[in-house]
Amino acid sequence: MHCVRSITDDLYWIGGNDRRLALFENIHPIEKGVSYNSYLLLDEKTVLFDTVDWAICRQFLENIKAVLGDRTLDYMVINHMEPDHAACIEEIILRYPNIKIICTEKASLFMHQFGFSIDDKVIKVKDGDSMSFGKHNLVFVTAPMVHWPEVMVTYDTTNGVLFSADAFGSFGALDGKLFNDEVNFDRDWIDEARRYYTNIVGKYGPHVQSLLKKAGNLDIKIICPLHGPVWRSDLGYFIDKHDKWSRYEPEEKGVMIVYGTMYGNTEASANYLATKLVEKGMKNVVMYDVSKTHVSYLIAETFKYSHVVLASVTYNLKIYPPMLNYIMDMKALNLQKRTFAIIENGSWTPQSGKLIRELLNEMKEMTILDNDITLTSSMKVEDCDSMDSMADSIIESMK
Ligand code: FEO
Repeated sequence: MHCVRSITDDLYWIGGNDRRLALFENIHPIEKGVSYNSYLLLDEKTVLFDTVDWAICRQFLENIKAVLGDRTLDYMVINHMEPDHAACIEEIILRYPNIKIICTEKASLFMHQFGFSIDDKVIKVKDGDSMSFGKHNLVFVTAPMVHWPEVMVTYDTTNGVLFSADAFGSFGALDGKLFNDEVNFDRDWIDEARRYYTNIVGKYGPHVQSLLKKAGNLDIKIICPLHGPVWRSDLGYFIDKHDKWSRYEPEEKGVMIVYGTMYGNTEASANYLATKLVEKGMKNVVMYDVSKTHVSYLIAETFKYSHVVLASVTYNLKIYPPMLNYIMDMKALNLQKRTFAIIENGSWTPQSGKLIRELLNEMKEMTILDNDITLTSSMKVEDCDSMDSMADSIIESMK
């Protein structure tokens, strides 16, 4: 059965939701599912914007048929070639053999790489090229590395709709509610939007900044991303979040304590520090067990908070592996501009702190407070003063 929504009088959402997939990109847990958005414009010509993941292809094809009625598909704009959006290109070609595909040169190369036969169908476009389909005029704006190199976004100058590819997307299935004003985004969606952005696009902050600059010159009324709600109001709220995330600026002054503990001793020191911070007035404190929290959640939270305390046991003379994995992911995603405090623990050669400091020093614009704490096996009463002064320095550094 088809399931579509109308966005304007001639533009339709024809995507679908996947609530079965456990791991997005086979890495990131998506407990709330994910939507794969695709859009169909009925002008003098019919224009499809991106396809969907293979998992929901049947729904997608039924949706296209329902919206098209007895018309055919004339054009398919491919903004992004990652298979969660591009998997059904060949299926569309098989069903609508006269279709023309509009995409960047790089996207057409990727189509070949993925094995699609598209040779006589492709219209390659460059940054700023435009095409008219009747009433609607589309401008193609390249957006390399948001999130792959072939990416472009498409702007409809007739009605101000921006088809934004992965930009402005979010994890989370759409429970019938397509538009941002049909949900309480700041309460129910922002955490998943942040987790999507930071883990998927987070590495490419400067490229997102370039796109935001280009988008600043357009009169955008509606944003149609490839995942999550369509934005038709309060666009500034979500654009501001992306501006902050892509400049690696924290959203909040607050302390995220991430601890790696084997038997609870390092955790006890983290609890003590959190309590001191709160007693001293810093109440925006969150704590995460690095072994129990999937790294994608840790990354999203690290983009949110200004300060991070890393408390790690020493393991085989190295950093505790789950802690190392988290730090390496932070590094891979190009995270910057955070202030760190370090607690190390070890029974015979505590040196995780020294190794963590070395890794953080390799990252951009990270401040590491200089009062590292070394615990031998467990925190004791004589460690309270140094823990107290760590709490003081964290609070002081927020001023
Ligand atoms: Fe949702 Fe980069 O694909």
